[in-house]
Amino acid sequence: MTHPKEIRNILLTGEQIQERIGLLAKEISAEHSYCEPLILVGILKGSFYFLADLSRKISVPVEIEFMQISTYGGQTESSGKVQILKDLDRDIRGRDVVIVEDILDTGLTLDYLLRSLATRKPKSLEVCTLLDKVERRKIEVPVAYRGFEIPNEFVVGYGMDHHQAFRNLPYIGVLDAT
Ligand code: IMP
Ligand code: MG
Repeated sequence: MTHPKEIRNILLTGEQIQERIGLLAKEISAEHSYCEPLILVGILKGSFYFLADLSRKISVPVEIEFMQISTYGGQTESSGKVQILKDLDRDIRGRDVVIVEDILDTGLTLDYLLRSLATRKPKSLEVCTLLDKVERRKIEVPVAYRGFEIPNEFVVGYGMDHHQAFRNLPYIGVLDAT
């Protein structure tokens, strides 16, 4: 597979990603088979392909919501400061909610989101992350569904960016540090 010169190597191919998402969707469907429609909350922008593919493989009724929170502002390090740029369009009180995230790094973003959404009293609140950089964790975050554990490297593609570039790569690659 040819790839841009900024990509050092391909970490996960499109096929590997789709296969894993199929299994995650099965897990989620099995856990939520007796509920009213599950609310999937995609965290913009990075999770948009993941949410699209995951939701189509889930076999129980779902509703789709989006939130956007402040990003690294072009940096590759989390500032620790999180701000809601776009909130949910609806009340989640008494509902089953799964937050769908592209990558869990320090955990600061999801920790903030979990605490913020918990105050709205959902019936259940879980995290589904495609990637998990376990080594980088600063705050423990409960993860119900995890796609892949990955090493401590900056990755792009399949929705994830560096300065807004590379989101549309159909695979996940490691960005060359130089
Ligand atoms: P955390 O708050 O440090 O856990 O950061 C999570 C967010 O940082 C993710 O939702 C991504 O938007 C971004 N992020 C963290 N690591 C990477 C990476 O390797 N590539 C692209 N974005 C990343
Ligand atoms: Mg993100």
